[in-house]
Amino acid sequence: MNAPTVPTEAAPTANTVVVDHPLIQHKLTLMRRSRTPANEFRQLLREISMLLAYEVTRDMPTELVEIDTPLTTMQAPMLAGKKLCLVSVLRAGGGILEGMLDILPAARVGHIGLYRDPVSLAAVEYYLKLPRDISERTAIVLDPMLATGNSAAAAVSEVKAAGCQSIKFVCLIAAPEGIKAMQEAHPDVPVYTAAVDSHLNDHGYIVPGIGDAGDRIFGTK
Ligand code: URA
Repeated sequence: MNAPTVPTEAAPTANTVVVDHPLIQHKLTLMRRSRTPANEFRQLLREISMLLAYEVTRDMPTELVEIDTPLTTMQAPMLAGKKLCLVSVLRAGGGILEGMLDILPAARVGHIGLYRDPVSLAAVEYYLKLPRDISERTAIVLDPMLATGNSAAAAVSEVKAAGCQSIKFVCLIAAPEGIKAMQEAHPDVPVYTAAVDSHLNDHGYIVPGIGDAGDRIFGTK
């Protein structure tokens, strides 16, 4: 049997951004290897997340403010517009959250606890804590694996229900099935991913993928 390929050309829609930078792809390959230990896996995910943060914030508006340098006064750009809220989908979203916070230390953080029913693969919510002012912020929802799309769509629905109207979704690996589900449920929410893999297997795992992201981050296999 041939090994499944990684169709990076398979970015299915204009609303999906595949961040296929060489550094990200190299680090992702190291993560994919089954022999990569949890501490290296976590560090690689943190580094990739910093690079994804760079891309997902590319369209943040800036405004000129007057500052004094040691030599003169100048008009210099600073971030303007809506502030950010990072929303981590427990538990694997925490692996992306760390790297995002390295780059975006002033962001607020929300958490949504969802698990996949092992039979139906439906998302079941067990925890929700979002900042009170999330409706005034841009939310970036974080979950490393966009597989069936059920958890991602449910998480985005919760953020919308809290009044937030500006939402992005960031993952490490997406399956075409997950992207399609997100597009159908939330066509207004762009998906940022480091890779689009081949397909889901019968248990809802992404192939070739990385296995269970939570287990690999926390070494719980
Ligand atoms: N969740 C994971 O952790 N891995 C997958 O491949 C799919 C969902």
